[in-house]
Amino acid sequence: MFYDTESNGHGLSHDPIKAIVAPRPIGWISALGPNGEVNLAPYSFFNIFASNPPIVGFSSEGMKDSVSFIAQTKEFVCNLATYDLRNEMNATSAPLPRGESEFVHAGLETAPSRLVKPPRVKASPAALECKLVSIQELETSDGRKLDRWLVLGHVVGVHIDEGCLVNGRFDITAAKTIARAGYADYVLADDVFSITRPKGG
Ligand SMILES: Cc1cc2nc3c(=O)[nH]c(=O)nc-3n(C[C@H](O)[C@H](O)[C@H](O)COP(=O)(O)O)c2cc1C
Repeated sequence: MFYDTESNGHGLSHDPIKAIVAPRPIGWISALGPNGEVNLAPYSFFNIFASNPPIVGFSSEGMKDSVSFIAQTKEFVCNLATYDLRNEMNATSAPLPRGESEFVHAGLETAPSRLVKPPRVKASPAALECKLVSIQELETSDGRKLDRWLVLGHVVGVHIDEGCLVNGRFDITAAKTIARAGYADYVLADDVFSITRPKGG
């Protein structure tokens, strides 16, 4: 089958696009508002775009609290979402009134960050402390503004639970990392294989 996205005429009961671009890593973003309000929410339009120095980014469909807070305070933390924290992670996606902490709502403890002000999720086995690089409004190929906001951050500090290090490598099966698939689906990282890249690559 083929469909164009102008008509979105896929004829399926659900739009398949997010099941095709999947599984997606989840950035579980903590940020502070200008008056110290704590915010936490999952974003699966999330990835790493450069490794050294590391640059990560997420995209918000609409100007949600995470983006509006980061625009004002210029810092955020990407906490790793795991199978053990799946229900808490999901609970933090609830649309709470601005200023009401999703940490409290989901029964999560905070842990202090080192180089940025927003706290981390204490129970998460990895967290990336980020300083804001840019916030860009996404647009279509013909220049139509979308009210979709791409937030890029420079990772200035990395927390790792050493229990997830196996032979000096961060082991995503030990962390039980989860990723977002389409619909209400998730993937658990439990089946990893390796391929060595061609020489000179
Ligand atoms: C696993 C998961 C991934 C999500 N990914 C995104 C995303 O990439 N972009 C987005 O705008 N909303 C996403 N959401 C919805 C937001 O988490 C939700 O709108 C949340 O209330 C936003 O919080 P905030 O307003 O405090 O930033 C996701 C929700 C879940 C459960």
